Amino acid sequence: MCGIVGYVGAKPALEVVLEGLRRLEYRGYDSAGVALVAGDALFTEKRAGKLAKLDKALSAGTPPAATTGIGHTRWATHGAPNDRNAHPHLGAGGRVAVVHNGIIENFSALRAELESAGQELRSETDTEVAAHLIEAEIDKGADLTTAMRQVCRRLDGAFTLVATTCDDHDQVVAARRNSPLVVGLGEGENFVASDVAAFIEHTREAMELAQDQVVTITGEQVLVTDFAGNPSEGKRFHVDWDIAAAEKSGYDYFMLKEIAEQPQAIADTLLGRFTDDGRLHLDEIRLSDEELRGIDKIIVIACGTAFHAGLLAKYVIEHWTRIPCEVELASEFRYRDPIVDRDTMVIAISQSGETMDTLMALRHAREQRAKVLAISNTNGSTIPRESDAVLYTRAGPEIAVASTKAFLTQIVACHLIALYLAQVRGLKYGDEITAILRQLERIPSAVAEVLGTVEPVRQLARELGDVETVLFLGRHVGYPVALEGALKLKELAYMHAEGFAAGELKHGPIALIEEGVPVFVIVPPKGRGVLHDKMVSNIAEIRARGARTIVLAEQGDEAVAPYADELIALPAVPTLLQPLVATVPLQVFSCEMATVRGHDVDQPRNLAKSVTVE
Ligand code: F6R
Repeated sequence: MCGIVGYVGAKPALEVVLEGLRRLEYRGYDSAGVALVAGDALFTEKRAGKLAKLDKALSAGTPPAATTGIGHTRWATHGAPNDRNAHPHLGAGGRVAVVHNGIIENFSALRAELESAGQELRSETDTEVAAHLIEAEIDKGADLTTAMRQVCRRLDGAFTLVATTCDDHDQVVAARRNSPLVVGLGEGENFVASDVAAFIEHTREAMELAQDQVVTITGEQVLVTDFAGNPSEGKRFHVDWDIAAAEKSGYDYFMLKEIAEQPQAIADTLLGRFTDDGRLHLDEIRLSDEELRGIDKIIVIACGTAFHAGLLAKYVIEHWTRIPCEVELASEFRYRDPIVDRDTMVIAISQSGETMDTLMALRHAREQRAKVLAISNTNGSTIPRESDAVLYTRAGPEIAVASTKAFLTQIVACHLIALYLAQVRGLKYGDEITAILRQLERIPSAVAEVLGTVEPVRQLARELGDVETVLFLGRHVGYPVALEGALKLKELAYMHAEGFAAGELKHGPIALIEEGVPVFVIVPPKGRGVLHDKMVSNIAEIRARGARTIVLAEQGDEAVAPYADELIALPAVPTLLQPLVATVPLQVFSCEMATVRGHDVDQPRNLAKSVTVE
């Protein structure tokens, strides 16, 4: 939520900052803006709307040459998404420029204080308050870094702030609390940004900052302190993906590229995680075998698509470990006084590792001494850093707002964790685990097979472009897949889409069925006996009431054919792994539906990739 960049070096700052914003635009696209330190003044330009609008405004003018600059792409929280509320915001005298990601919770009181001192604020944002306060500290004699620290100590809430000033040409100062901030370490140049994607073109050496740290960058130096001014250190790391991973590489949309990358993402997530004799070793899980054996309850917390991966985790965890497992939306968990103690393991699933609701839920769990294990796709992000242990998915950067490859790898990670627990607790014989791991190893080629057969799904989306409602039905592990199919369609095609547990059909949802309503049905593998047969009856029931049935079923499933208006054949895989193949056609359908309806697939309205506010 909100992308921020800062640069100091020898290159034209405007180009570096704009390129960084382009790579961060997935974080928010309500407005964009830049500030450059030019001689004795600050130059700013900002526009409501996507980055292209800012580009246009800059091309129409003559921005000054500068080698220090900051930039912002916004997901609006305080104040409408217009030019006035776009970042950067300036202090009262226009000598300090600030960009911000997060929410300053006590901003009303601080604003009232500034107004009663006669300062006039030009926007409705919480950010402008910080800009005024920082400039006021400089007026009293502080340098930019000291001013930033003093102001941060007065702020409540979540924030990454990046500031620069024309009083000192060659520095950018940034601070973080509860929001992401990384430093890019270059040769004669340095960067700050919400995400390494912003500077990966210039350097792959980076540093993550911890909670309540301030960093001052110049071309030659990077200085980290805490909010009290004590010397501190960030954690250095090497970014192991290259620029190609952050490019569309010939695809029309990042989402299409990321859907196509799923076989590789799954294979990478499995890579090196089991030994030649078929045993799992998850080195990153920094919990002792004794601790893992002592767990008597598991609670999975997550939001959105990651929550759907969590719903699937329950099936595999309970099946293989017999440990009771609850799954809860992170935003609900935190506020309901859940029963958690030292023998509870909380699994927090988050692609970005920054989702505020999940972060707050995990803190709540840790306060009650639960052990927290994170599943994340982002090295060094806040959620894994604050957890007791982490299992990284290796999907590579996911840039499209709608999650695809991260989802499938989260499911794989849940399988690995469940099997690992079963192994440590002695609930599965080695050869059983080996057999399941071998099935998992075949999934990348099964997903590739599905990807090779999705053209009819695209065709179907083109045909259904005008419908207003699409429903999704599933049973058992097909139910979270139905929920995920509906979520993807809502967020991308802006249409009414709902997922149901098929068994619930007759308890209400069947009333939605009328002539021609498309219903996707995820059918369990043929070998599932009763489960499979009940689903076939459900298809017959909705078809009898006029539904247009689009049936996803295992290849060669003769029983469903008479009731399927459209049949999407899935490779034969074990039931618990079926979501990994069944989700793919639904992703493709939503993507195509959004295109047919003329929407921006990668940047759906009102959304942002990383939800860093509650
Ligand atoms: C939907 C989607 C979101 C995210 C959710 C959690 O396509 O991407 O629902 O899954 O915002 O995000 P993370 O996994 O980063 O915590």
